[in-house]
Amino acid sequence: MSEILRNLENQTAIITGAAQGIGRAIAERLARAGARVAVSDLNLKAAQATASEIGTSATAIQADVSKAAEVDQMVHALLEQWGRIDILINNAGIVGRDVPVKDLTEADWDQVLDINLKGTFLCSRAVIGPMIDRKQGAIVSIASISGKEGNPSMAPYSVSKAGVICFTKALAKEVIGDGIRVNCVSPALIQTPLLDKIEQDQLDWMTSKIPLGRLGRPEEVAALVHFLASEDASFTTGQCYDISGGRATY
Ligand SMILES: NC(=O)c1ccc[n+]([C@@H]2O[C@H](COP(=O)([O-])OP(=O)(O)OC[C@H]3O[C@@H](n4cnc5c(N)ncnc54)[C@H](O)[C@@H]3O)[C@@H](O)[C@H]2O)c1
Repeated sequence: MSEILRNLENQTAIITGAAQGIGRAIAERLARAGARVAVSDLNLKAAQATASEIGTSATAIQADVSKAAEVDQMVHALLEQWGRIDILINNAGIVGRDVPVKDLTEADWDQVLDINLKGTFLCSRAVIGPMIDRKQGAIVSIASISGKEGNPSMAPYSVSKAGVICFTKALAKEVIGDGIRVNCVSPALIQTPLLDKIEQDQLDWMTSKIPLGRLGRPEEVAALVHFLASEDASFTTGQCYDISGGRATY
């Protein structure tokens, strides 16, 4: 494989929420670059289907990222199988109910924060010890433009993604001397099944704010994540990379 493809041979990667959408595109891309990939998802059947389409370098594994015991068990099982974890992609996430704050329930808030933000913490915590021991690792989390700007009717989602951005910066500084890089990306609207859960007028409003005038593709996010997970990004940590078709210029 040529250098330009950022060879990941002999490396291992966990991608959460990888049964479909952006996570699936990332798993496919990292596998194409030579990595052994864990297609991790709440939905085991869908994860198995995705892993079998990727091929023998892919392993399907079930874990709810909001549950510490399931996350720890997943990482333990993969360490037994692989002996090492080089890359973690915190991708699993939900958008939650599309309602204004006055109508939000405590359960709405907790569900989104538990999966998107606590899940990122739990998965990162589970891999960081073994990464520190080997003085090697890369973590890339999928935040969102809403975590920079705050989208109306999406308060828990926006707050969870702002939390992911700040968690990235805090963790990156903690492990900067341990050979581990921690970054995140902030996509605007990307064409995935997640959009089925958002009201059409909200989608139209979000699309109208993208100067490139179209939705992003999961493969475009995967390309940026691949770069950040690879040694090509060896001088980059604690960053949030924009992938918003020009929506955010900061
Ligand atoms: N699609 C977009 O426009 C967009 C924009 C910005 C950020 N993002 C973020 O990108 C990530 C992926 O989004 P997507 O559009 O591919 O979503 P998607 O709904 O297509 O896929 C999400 C996957 O995560 C899995 N999942 C859900 N809850 C889980 C849990 N508790 N534990 C483990 N897996 C779980 C689902 O089963 C699904 O396979 C999310 O974090 C999302 O917030 C998406």
